[in-house]
Amino acid sequence: MRFLVLFAIVVSAVRQALAFPPGYFEGHARGIPNLTLPIFSSDQRIDVEANPFLAPGKNDHRGPCPGLNALANHQFIPHNGIVTFTAAILQSNRVFGLGLDTAAIAAVLALFGADLLGVDFPFSIGGGGELGLLRAPTGLSGTHNQFESDSSVTRGDFYQFDGDNYHLQLRYFEALYNLQPDSPDSNYDAETIFEHSHIRFHQSIAEDEFFFYGPLQMFVSCLTHNLVYGLMSNHSAESPEGFLQGKVLKSIYAISTDLSGNLVYTPGHERIPENWYRRPFLDEYDARHVIPDLLAMWLRYPELLLFGGNINGTNTYAPIDLGNLTGGVFNTASLLEGDNAACFVFQALQILVPDALSGLAGVVVVIVSKLLDVLGPLLAGLTCPKLTTINREVLEQYPGYKQSSHPV
Ligand code: HEM
Ligand SMILES: *[C@@H]1O[C@H](CO)[C@@H](O)[C@H](O)[C@H]1NC(C)=O
Ligand SMILES: *[C@@H]1O[C@H](CO)[C@@H](O)[C@H](O)[C@H]1NC(C)=O
Ligand SMILES: *[C@@H]1O[C@H](CO)[C@@H](O)[C@H](O)[C@H]1NC(C)=O
Ligand SMILES: *[C@@H]1O[C@H](CO)[C@@H](O)[C@H](O)[C@H]1NC(C)=O
Repeated sequence: MRFLVLFAIVVSAVRQALAFPPGYFEGHARGIPNLTLPIFSSDQRIDVEANPFLAPGKNDHRGPCPGLNALANHQFIPHNGIVTFTAAILQSNRVFGLGLDTAAIAAVLALFGADLLGVDFPFSIGGGGELGLLRAPTGLSGTHNQFESDSSVTRGDFYQFDGDNYHLQLRYFEALYNLQPDSPDSNYDAETIFEHSHIRFHQSIAEDEFFFYGPLQMFVSCLTHNLVYGLMSNHSAESPEGFLQGKVLKSIYAISTDLSGNLVYTPGHERIPENWYRRPFLDEYDARHVIPDLLAMWLRYPELLLFGGNINGTNTYAPIDLGNLTGGVFNTASLLEGDNAACFVFQALQILVPDALSGLAGVVVVIVSKLLDVLGPLLAGLTCPKLTTINREVLEQYPGYKQSSHPV
């Protein structure tokens, strides 16, 4: 309780000190561009007749990502759920319109769970196991705090559910679903998703004693929230900018409604509905959307930018002192100015990822070089103060960070 109060004080102090008064954002130097192109072509329709849904068998891997689970169920990637680095990127791009830059970041983070001695780095989209000589690859489910993070859209926090960070928790899906009236006219749009992410953040603070929300985890949580509307929406001729109906959300999330009207989750049954249209080919979900959407989300709920975690049980959230973490290069006050937030997150990844890998010897080179390849072009488009060090000691105070293995 004491810490809840402390948190409230810190948040309000941060808000005041950091000037988040009403009107602040209207005068923001960087507007949020409306990049959505009103274009449509009929080949955006995903042919699920040619790639029919096939439920996973007991030896097929499924995990925390509904997009990859759906790709496997429709055999756009191997049905067993073991996918290579390249195929994960290309098929996410082809079927869902995820931009190559963003897909590549995701695939690099997936390397934490991959077989780095295998050709094109195969990884399981769920749990790990059989492949790999260097070390048993963990699969995506085993990448807690390296990729898989707390405060997910529908998945449980790692320590809160005894390590089950990959199943959908029906309560969280229901909460999202109920943010809109049960009607075909309801659109689970960006604003709805922002609201859900804010609710989930406070839920993690209140319910997960080991909640950890460092720079990487914040990025993963916010990005994947935005993927819901950005990638699952139906982009038809009528709504080229995308419209996400409840029934489509349910289908891609493996949720159905039973005879008494209750939502039911069938793990692993993520399904692309018939007559579903992906994003326009000329308007992929790449950095041109990712960065403005994140900014819009953070402007709407600035608390989401308060990296930190619970330090002594639930409701003990302590934000990280960003000045301390970055040797004074960044501070929370100016994080929402210019490109700072994106600059901080991408540069922090460049420093934190190699650090996290230092115990894993031979694999470092591969991951680091891939990471530099994919982050370089993104950073080149931003005007950034130069981040040179991250004071990792600041992270050590968080039990949810300390007890995970090789956290980023
Ligand atoms: C290179 C390809 C991809 C990789 C490696 C990847 C990996 C992941 C991982 C590890 C998570 C768990 C993050 C967490 O802890 O919350 C996740 C979540 C998520 N991914 Fe993917 N993903 C990829 C592509 C896609 C695509 C194509 C979609 C399209 C819909 C998608 C949508 C999502 C969503 C909505 C979540 C949040 C899940 C939830 O908590 O409900 N991802 N992804
Ligand atoms: C963005 O552009 C699309 C297509 O022209 C339009 O339908 C939508 O209303 C615009 N959104 C905003 C917030 O201006
Ligand atoms: C997508 O939108 C089109 C046009 O409104 C509609 O015909 C189609 O049924 C929608 N797809 C889904 C899966 O709802
Ligand atoms: C952590 O919380 C417990 C009570 O839940 C309290 O006894 C203890 O002093 C707290 N530790 C610190 C370091 O604040
Ligand atoms: C920065 O963090 C370190 C490690 O947690 C701490 O010892 C130090 O007092 C902090 N300095 C400031 C100025 O907050």
